[in-house]
Amino acid sequence: MTEQERIMQLRTELHRHNHNYYVLNAPTISDQEFDALLRELQDLEERHPELYDANSPTQRVGSDLSQEFVAVAHKRPMLSLANTYNKDEVREFYERVSEGLGGEPFEICCELKFDGLSISLHYEDGRLVRAVTRGDGVQGDDVTSNIRTIRSIPLQLEARPAVPAVAADGQADLFASPASEPVAPWPREFEIRGEVLMPWTSFEALNREREAAEEPLFANPRNAASGTLKSKQTAVVAARKLDAYLYYLLGDELPADGHYENMEAARAWGFKVSDHMRKAASLDEIFDYIDYWDTERKRLPVATDGIVLKVNSLRQQQTLGMTAKSPRWAIAYKFQAEQASTVLREVTYQVGRTGAVTPVANMDPVQLSGTIVRRATLHNADFVEQLGLHLGDHVLVEKGGEIIPKIVSVDEAFITPERGPKVQFIQRCPECGATLVRYEGEAAWYCPNDAGCPPQIKGRIEHFVSRKAMNIDTLGPETIDDFYARGLIHNYADLYTLTVDQLSGYNDSRIRSARKTIQAIADSRQVPFERVLFALGIRFVGENVAKVLARSFKNIDALAAASLDDFLQINTIGAAIAESVKQWFANPDNLELVERLRTYGLQMSLSEETLARQSDRLAGQTIVISGVFARHSRDEYKALIEQHGGKNAGSISAKTSFILAGENMGPAKLEKAQRLGVRIVGEQEFLEMIGEA
Ligand code: IVH
Repeated sequence: MTEQERIMQLRTELHRHNHNYYVLNAPTISDQEFDALLRELQDLEERHPELYDANSPTQRVGSDLSQEFVAVAHKRPMLSLANTYNKDEVREFYERVSEGLGGEPFEICCELKFDGLSISLHYEDGRLVRAVTRGDGVQGDDVTSNIRTIRSIPLQLEARPAVPAVAADGQADLFASPASEPVAPWPREFEIRGEVLMPWTSFEALNREREAAEEPLFANPRNAASGTLKSKQTAVVAARKLDAYLYYLLGDELPADGHYENMEAARAWGFKVSDHMRKAASLDEIFDYIDYWDTERKRLPVATDGIVLKVNSLRQQQTLGMTAKSPRWAIAYKFQAEQASTVLREVTYQVGRTGAVTPVANMDPVQLSGTIVRRATLHNADFVEQLGLHLGDHVLVEKGGEIIPKIVSVDEAFITPERGPKVQFIQRCPECGATLVRYEGEAAWYCPNDAGCPPQIKGRIEHFVSRKAMNIDTLGPETIDDFYARGLIHNYADLYTLTVDQLSGYNDSRIRSARKTIQAIADSRQVPFERVLFALGIRFVGENVAKVLARSFKNIDALAAASLDDFLQINTIGAAIAESVKQWFANPDNLELVERLRTYGLQMSLSEETLARQSDRLAGQTIVISGVFARHSRDEYKALIEQHGGKNAGSISAKTSFILAGENMGPAKLEKAQRLGVRIVGEQEFLEMIGEA
């Protein structure tokens, strides 16, 4: 056998082992044997770069190189589903379908609604060629390289004998195709959609790791999966252990008229298709399915948030058609968030970096959606008041999509005349004793002692070092806590005075990490001005406002000297932001901080490069971006518009100056533009306008 032949053989073999392991959960070789084959393939591929294949099993490990995502238009729009929340609404859907089909018999395919993010996969000649996120439904990001690292997604299809669906729920499935039927061939070209998920076990492991590294936790597996899939490094995706279930086959030459049957074919081609799809011939069968999975879903390895019901016949789907947003032939039934009853013992108060005081309910531990709940946020004083809470009350807690549970109501059934004392919102800061204040139009109470209240001081430092600000990633909350407690830092400017000896405490084992921290702090002096501005932690100056201010004033001295009027000249800056910035710079302590940061070498003005790119060529113009572009990404165009004084808008109106249109502009936008007589400017023309052609 030649080396070329061996490469091909190994690829096929490894694809099959991947499928056995990650789709069928039935490996036929050990991990060591798998690794040995993979290494052999890696070695051979290194010797034969001419045989490179992006779909080789070796590519699943990913790389550290940074990638940019390109926006691409969906071949067919990715619609979402109408939601229903109770059986009456399901019945209405069923009746609408029946009526729409003129009374002819129909079947409904019942399936789980997976709670991840949807993905569209394109295959040509049995090979994965492109994977696109949903985006806005018309266009999404090309994330093919990231998707290739998901082991359960086949990169190269191979016909396999159909594996019958396991009736784990004991419901007889009369319509399932018998295993002996020949497998239909896959169309030369097709699209298959599904959900990318992070299984509970991977999610919990990831959050444990992040907690140890003092990184912010993901609120739920959906956010974790979506954050992961947007990662610029494929190696990060590969390490995070995502999974994917496929649930929708699209194309011109599908094997069958039945959705269910097509999914069975897809399963036989190697896709991971849920074992829990069932066809129902009556409303009662649908209700049985819903009832069964309402409780049983808690035992699944992945998060689900409902049931999806689809008219099975594609012909009938076509008859029923679509509304503007969703198909008439399918709906989602959403599960009720799980609730539990427990007893409220105490209300404690947390002070954030802005001084906002958040009340927290401390309750008797109670089991809820797989975790033990002891605490729930009470948001603010109004929320506490609305609930009418008394200590000792029985309360109903609920866990929706988020990790933090909330109190829904007092459990009235338990209220007795000898009820505990009513919860009164505190009047003094629990950390520093200052009298709390309330600002007009805001729900929160604030501790005004920003210079002396420890959680505010530490919170501001945490914000300063955070990723989107100065990005000093070796400093987590616990380290900052420690430095503050040791008296090493009192504000963020102090970070730049730290020495290796102070950090290590002359302890040899800590020198390496101390050096790393000092280096990271030193490196942060290169962080651009707009992010420094964001890092200062001025109230209402988020990431975007900081960018606008940096672009408008160009340096910190001009910003500090700006009058209220100067601010209000800027389109997107309102009075609240203007007031807050002025106040901040009126405080001598803050001016001193700025002066110190300046001496330490931080960027206090826009770089030459950014300044050179600026102009007023688009001043006063409101521009809508639509379609897909060749030269820059949409985000880059948005930034360019702002750099040249223009304003971005999301939708077309009479105020739109022009539309910057790439390929595949959506038909609805085109129609609206024509109706309102809004000019359409192509990519090339736009680049000429801003002098970048
Ligand atoms: S079918 C036109 N089936 O739910 C029908 N969607 O709001 C397209 N989802 O965007 C979707 N599980 O991300 C379908 N078994 C399932 C699903 C499912 C989860 C998601 C999907 C979609 C959203 C609908």
